[in-house]
Amino acid sequence: MNESLSATAARIVPQVLPICGEHQIGEARRAAAAMLHALGFQGPAVNYAVTAVSELAANLVFHARCQQVMTLRPLRVGSCTAFEIVAEDGGPGIDSLVDAMRDGFSTNGGLGAGLPGVRRLMDEFEIRSKPGVGTTVVARKWLR
Ligand SMILES: Nc1ncnc2c1ncn2[C@@H]1O[C@H](COP(=O)(O)OP(=O)(O)OP(=O)(O)O)[C@@H](O)[C@H]1O
Ligand SMILES: [Mg+2]
Repeated sequence: MNESLSATAARIVPQVLPICGEHQIGEARRAAAAMLHALGFQGPAVNYAVTAVSELAANLVFHARCQQVMTLRPLRVGSCTAFEIVAEDGGPGIDSLVDAMRDGFSTNGGLGAGLPGVRRLMDEFEIRSKPGVGTTVVARKWLR
């Protein structure tokens, strides 16, 4: 990353977005696109990361019932920069992560493409869930 881009990235602050209604999916997409561009992402990487934000936000709206929050933030490790998404909620949690991560699995008649798609679109993907407690998904895209 060149010096001016690095200085710009240093000024980008995390955004904590409540995601309770469908209109907030669009707000999260727009916030993500702005942050990605500000960090220096270009081309398909922007679309991949914005799609991941969209899918995780949709899961917060359609599958979670409380305390749905998405945090978008820049990560810096040495001279490397990543865009990080953290989607978390306070329940109901996921009974089987193996099922949830399978292409085509859905408990509400969806395509079951969201979580496996996010894993493919991003460079790093982690999901933790406890039935009755909640779910946290962390996904990262590194700037190349
Ligand atoms: N935050 C969440 N809380 C509870 N369950 C979830 C959450 N996110 C996903 N799930 C569960 O994992 C399943 C798979 O999620 P995924 O996003 O892959 O598919 P979908 O949302 O059902 O359909 P699509 O995303 O293709 O419209 C969901 O059907 C749901 O049962
Ligand atoms: Mg989904």
